[in-house]
Amino acid sequence: WFARVRDLRAMPWRKPYDASLSRDEQAQRAYEVWVSEIMLQQTQVATVIPYYNRWMEKFPTIQALAQSNIETINSLWKGLGYYSRASRLLSSAKLVVSSPQYAGRLPDTVDELMKHVPGVGRYSAGAICSIAYGRCEPALDGNVHRLLSRLLALHSPPKSTQTLALLWAGATDLVKSVDVPGDVNQALIELGSTVCKPKDPLCAECPVGEWCMAYNMVKEEKEKKISKE
Ligand code: ADE
Repeated sequence: WFARVRDLRAMPWRKPYDASLSRDEQAQRAYEVWVSEIMLQQTQVATVIPYYNRWMEKFPTIQALAQSNIETINSLWKGLGYYSRASRLLSSAKLVVSSPQYAGRLPDTVDELMKHVPGVGRYSAGAICSIAYGRCEPALDGNVHRLLSRLLALHSPPKSTQTLALLWAGATDLVKSVDVPGDVNQALIELGSTVCKPKDPLCAECPVGEWCMAYNMVKEEKEKKISKE
């Protein structure tokens, strides 16, 4: 399945995963993925790209960001909305840079990221760990939630504890099935946002349509109707 979905659109924060990078180079990638994920939390890719590029020009490293101030941050964020995201980036950068434990490197585990980096939840922590650090961690965002729910034709309440446990477990299995976890997560996000859209999903073009229980159920219903007519 992965071969069918692995081609990703180019985005400034997407760089091929390279296991030979040093710990510092991986931490630099983590900084870039972190900024992109925070910007993408409530904003579309096309809107984020110019903001991300300007941000990285101004703050190429977490150290550069940590030396900035809220006025500069807010002026770069102008137009993106949800300004608390920007102030959390600044306060988290200061925290990570001044911490003797982290010495300017974002943590590389989901637990530490969630505990010590404000604004990073389970999804963003999974994205950072898998994309930058190559860790086998799932990243279930709204796109992946919808995609997997349809693939499995789930009927349970989408936000229930059981549904979430099942989907996180499914996302974990998928990420374990391939040796580039960051690419798996990004391919799932991509499929969820571009094909398995909330309204009018493009099922006829879906590369994994043949394995989609929801799509196949609808198709069977339609075929039954036609044969009755
Ligand atoms: N939305 C959230 N994270 C993303 C990513 N890494 N690539 C594309 N869209 C995203």
